[in-house]
Order: sequence, then C-alpha cells, then structure tokens
Amino acid sequence: MSTKTEFASKIGLIAATVGSAIGLGNVWRFPAETQSNGGAAFLLLYILCVLALGIPVMLAEFSLGRGGRSDAIGAFCNLSPGKKWWIIGAVAVLASYLILCYYMVVAGWTLEYLVQSLTGNLYAGTGCAVADDPAAMRGFFDGKMQEYVCSDFAPLAFTFLMIIINGAVLMGGVQKGIERLSNVLMPLLFLILVGMCILTLNLPDAGEGVKYFLSPDFSKITPRVIINALGQAFFSLSLGMGILITYSSYYPADTKLTRTSVIVAFLSLLVAILMGLIIFPAVKSFGLDKESLEGSTLVFVTLPEVFASLPLARLWSSLFFLLLLVAALTSTVSIAEVSIAMLQDRLKMKRWKAVLIILCPLFVVSAACSLSFGSLSNLTIANLTIFGFLDGLTTNVLLPITSLAVCLYMGWFAPKGLLADELSNYGTVRSRVTGTVLFIIRYIAPVLIALIFIFNFI
Ligand code: PFF
Repeated sequence: MSTKTEFASKIGLIAATVGSAIGLGNVWRFPAETQSNGGAAFLLLYILCVLALGIPVMLAEFSLGRGGRSDAIGAFCNLSPGKKWWIIGAVAVLASYLILCYYMVVAGWTLEYLVQSLTGNLYAGTGCAVADDPAAMRGFFDGKMQEYVCSDFAPLAFTFLMIIINGAVLMGGVQKGIERLSNVLMPLLFLILVGMCILTLNLPDAGEGVKYFLSPDFSKITPRVIINALGQAFFSLSLGMGILITYSSYYPADTKLTRTSVIVAFLSLLVAILMGLIIFPAVKSFGLDKESLEGSTLVFVTLPEVFASLPLARLWSSLFFLLLLVAALTSTVSIAEVSIAMLQDRLKMKRWKAVLIILCPLFVVSAACSLSFGSLSNLTIANLTIFGFLDGLTTNVLLPITSLAVCLYMGWFAPKGLLADELSNYGTVRSRVTGTVLFIIRYIAPVLIALIFIFNFI
C-alpha cells in the first residue's frame, strides 16, 4: 500500500494551493505593475495571460507532480528513469530555496509592520504636527521605513521570528501543518480583503480610482507591457518554482486537476482585482496617485499615509498588514515545502530533520539579505545587493528556465499519454481540454516564456 502523504480534504488542498499562489505577487507586485504598465489595459492582458497560458502550464505542473508522485526531482526520476530530466527539478528546487531566502525577509517586514500597527508605534507622532502637510507625512513614513526595513536589528529579529513560525507550521506536516493553517487563513484573507474594499470604495473620489483601474486605454499596450503581464501571471500562479509539482504530489487520485487549476487561477485573479479596488481608490482619494506604487514604497509608505488620514488608523493598518502577513506566510511554507519534500523523498529523511536542515541556514542567508538594506548594503554581487541579486537571478533567469523546461518536457518528452491520463483521472472523468493544453505547452508557452527571458535582458 502506498504511504505517500496526501491532503486530507478537497477544500484543504485547494486552500493550500491557493495559499501558495496568493502571495506578495498579487498583493503588492500587481498594483505596482498595473500602475507602471498603463492601468486597466494591463489588467486585461494579465487576465488573458492567466487564462490562456497560466492555466495550461499549471496543468502541466499538476500532471507532472501527481503522475510522478514525488518531490520536484523525484517526479522526473519516476517518470523518466535513467534520464537526465531530473536536472529540471533540481533547478526548480534551487530556485525555490533562493526565493525562500529573500522572501522570508519580506515576510518579516510584514510581521514587523503588523506589530507596529497593533502597538500604535507606526502612527505615534503623526498627530497635528504633520497631518495637514502631505510632504511632512511622506517624510514621516519614509523615516519609519528606514527604521523598520533598512536598520539592522529590528528587521533581522522579525525575519528570525518568521523563520521560527514557518518551522512550527512545517513541523506539523502536510495535513496538520500546511493544510490546517491554510484552512484557517484563506477565509480570513478573503474576509479582510472584502472589508478593506468596502472601506476604500466609500472614500471620497473613490470612483476616480476605480475608473483608472477598470477602464482600459488600449494605446498603452506595447510588447513590453505584454511581456510584463505574462511575467506577472507566471509569478502570481507560482509557476516554475516546483511548488505546484510538490503540492500536486499530495493530491489524491480522484482530484480533478482541471477544475482545481481553474479555481486556483480564479481566486488568485480575484485577490489581485480586489487589491486593485483597495489601492487605486485609496491613493486617488488622498491625491497620492502620482506617488510611486512600487512594491515596498506602496505598502510601507503610501498606504500608511492613507491610513493615518482615516479614523481608526490603527485598526485599518493592522488589518491590512495581517492580510499581507497571511499572504506571505502561506507562500513561504509552500516554497519551503519544495526542499523539505525533496529531502524526505530523496534521502528518506525524517520530516523534523528535513525541516531543520532547510530552515536553519536561513538564519544566516536570510540574515545577509536583511542586512543588505543596512550595514551590508555595500556588499554587492554583479552590482546588486545580496537581496537584489537573489531576486534578479531567480525571477529573471531561473524561473523562466524551469517553466520553459517543464513545458518542453510535458509537451514532448514525458511518457506518452501522461497529460491525458492525469487530466482525465485515468479515464474516469471527461477532459475536453487535453488537446488545447497540449498545443499550448508544446508551441505557444515555450515561445512566450523564451521572450520573457530575452526581454528581461534588453
Ligand atoms: N504566487 C506567489 C506570490 O505571488 O507571491 C509566488 C511565491 C513567491 C510563492 C514566493 C512563494 C514564495 F515564497
């Protein structure tokens, strides 16, 4: 009898997969990309990329993971024994680990901002002195960001705390750790999102922000915008990171892969859209729409400026950073699971040992990433800080390579019929999409992913 770990329930496996997909990519990267790529036109392209390419590539990863019934490396070994295809899995594991190293730092910031919102420290001093002076207000929160992100001690302490929280969840295992956490946190995330949406849509001039976000200006579409939308779609669905291969190896044999991928993609899109409906009305209402919505400035400077001008600033701010923390935590556990599963499956290691071996080095590497905003800011690799280097290497190089390789493998080299068998649960359910998915992962996705890769260097 197989002793392979499985998710305990259908809801649980969806919550866990959605939890992985919904991360800082939807919450802060998406609004920033939308702002710099022409508003609603970008939104439309992003939706198109998720539906036309994201879902097929997700299905390729699901089929690979459930068909291979192992970690990201083992899936290739099981499906194509004696061949070198496992190297794709190894690159995915490497990429996921490097992402984990710096993403843990960002997750630490979200925890820090939550704590500072709850205690009121973030807003202490924003009284009459600066409230009526936008420039002073901005300077105030810029200063806070220096203190909370760019200093040495506080961000490091919160990064360590996040590593420990991740450790506690991951020690619980797939069902009692990841699945249980996701079952609680995903509904909470949607509840907070809807609550915040109601708040921002009722602000004065909110309609202007909604208009900017939802009425497309097609003249803004350029090849660069299309490539950015594609990159955003892949990142926000967690493609190429080995996560979906690992998680789908925990899917029971009767899980309907197509339906799962559509639900995950839909919920990930929904979060991005709700985030847009929170951010654009909020910044428009306070005349901050010309300010940069670049990821970290948006969430750590611009939005606190908005909250500071509202009654109950601490409450809204705490809810928002809780939302961010939930998004970050369910993503970090999913990406750590890629390496943990690899150690468990490849080396037959006990789970607790694998968790320790994966998380302990983060106390050094994530610490270096955190300090790269402080006293290690002069330490550079290829002219980038340690954090910037890991981010660039993974997003611009490793992720496109693994996504491309997975498409080529599943499209051309995997055992014949694997995709069709997995999508139809070995003939027990009807799958009308196999032909289309195969066509996309054979011909269209590889070309477009190669273009993202090339464009990143132009
Ligand atoms: N889809 C995730 C996001 O949008 O943030 C991608 C991700 C990144 C997952 C980093 C996990 C992670 F650690």
